[in-house]
Amino acid sequence: MAPAAIHDQVGQAIGTTHSLAVHGKTGLGLVSFGCLGALLEAGALGAGGQACHISLGHGGEAEDQQGGNQDGEEAAHRLRVWRCSWGALPKQDGDLLPRQKLDLLPGQDVSCGHYGSSPVAMPTVLALETSCDESAAAVVRDQRPLASAVATQMEEHARFGGVVPEIASRRHVEALPQLIDQVMADSGLGFADLDGIAATVTPGLVGALLVGSVTARTLARLHGLPFLGVHHLEGHLCSVHLGEPLPPGPFLVLLVSGGHSELIRVDGPGAYRRLARSRDDAAGEAFDKVARLLELGYPGGPAIQAAAAGGQADRFPLPKGRVSLPGGGFHPYDFSFSGLKTAMVRLVAEQQRLADGAGTALPLADLAASFEQVVAEVLVERTCRCAKDQGLETLVLVGGVAANRRLRNLLEARCQTLGLAWRAAPLAYCTDNAAMIGVAAEQRLLAGGQSSIELAVAPRWPLEDALALYDRQNPF
Ligand code: KG4
Ligand code: ZN
Repeated sequence: MAPAAIHDQVGQAIGTTHSLAVHGKTGLGLVSFGCLGALLEAGALGAGGQACHISLGHGGEAEDQQGGNQDGEEAAHRLRVWRCSWGALPKQDGDLLPRQKLDLLPGQDVSCGHYGSSPVAMPTVLALETSCDESAAAVVRDQRPLASAVATQMEEHARFGGVVPEIASRRHVEALPQLIDQVMADSGLGFADLDGIAATVTPGLVGALLVGSVTARTLARLHGLPFLGVHHLEGHLCSVHLGEPLPPGPFLVLLVSGGHSELIRVDGPGAYRRLARSRDDAAGEAFDKVARLLELGYPGGPAIQAAAAGGQADRFPLPKGRVSLPGGGFHPYDFSFSGLKTAMVRLVAEQQRLADGAGTALPLADLAASFEQVVAEVLVERTCRCAKDQGLETLVLVGGVAANRRLRNLLEARCQTLGLAWRAAPLAYCTDNAAMIGVAAEQRLLAGGQSSIELAVAPRWPLEDALALYDRQNPF
């Protein structure tokens, strides 16, 4: 069936005259986000934030949530359509609109069609990211980066052992214009082809955020385009969509970066609930501090991973920091890494003394591997426990620390044992980048949202309130 015919049927089923942007493939290649079943997402643009989710069962059984024809056999698909507000999921069958049967084949491309009188293509967004020490720009369409570039300032901050805010802001000012030129040229698009311009507006270093935000707002004004202020953590959550399609939601995200270690329940775009956090250092911060202790340089994560190669991970027992509750006992999922860092300081001093006495070298690989192992174990154990308690069957790993091989391997092994599905952001999009900011902005545009051109920046803002960035009334 031709894409246009599919869109006609989708439109009839939803009973809307609004233009629909439907994307994805049937079968395994289908794009899914936080919705039930194998899924096509359709944003009914301009319908006051109304969205339509369309799910395809296969083998003639609409309730089959497996999505797609895993063994490649051709099968007729049934279309299930319902209406709900963006981010919410239909709770009961009454929310469903009448079903229609469609003869879609697995792997069939239904990307970028139009329905209705005003055709809408998938939004194309130029996104900027300058919240910390990476200047980044990307052009994103349909959850795919058409072009993405990152200019890291790490070397410059390395000699200070951490990010110096003033240096970061200046380097963003220097790097951003070139990066924008580069991604626009690489994408082969002009500003007239864009549907919006996005920048990270929170959380982060205020001076650094301002560079991206002011640049994006100026370009938006200049070209008459909507501006989208994006929450950096929502960007990290969305980085997983740059990889393999997700199984049906809801899901539990382990977000581990230089500034955050959190468990977030995701029920749909914008529907986020934080279930755990670190009470002191973030996981990435722990990597950075321990790397400095071991004189491995900055950023610590990749340096520790390299040093740990071939090391004996069970040589040094290290504490799995827990968070006490006022009434006794421990918080079931919250993290604490400062005790681990102190234990490493003591352990390294002791090992140095022994090495000096024996005239040998510090057992660097074993120290790095033991540290990496205990961090990975703590993260995976608490994530799996939380998923079990919440009845969630899909785990998602994002953020800079998600690039860690030991952590990815351990999560994979544990999920296999427990029968859970898991996905991680692609390696290239774990650390800060603008493609993930573009995906978040694209979702918001599809839901009919945009930010005020007067939206400022903020060092902190709760992820649960990310939707406020698209309110008429500015939260900051
Ligand atoms: O997400 P990100 O780029 O920036 C923040 O939003 O914080 O994360 C940076 C953090 C740094 O602390 C860095 O040491 C850590 O991610 N990191 C890693 C690895 N690559 C980056 N940690 C462990 N293993 C890695 N391979
Ligand atoms: Zn980040």
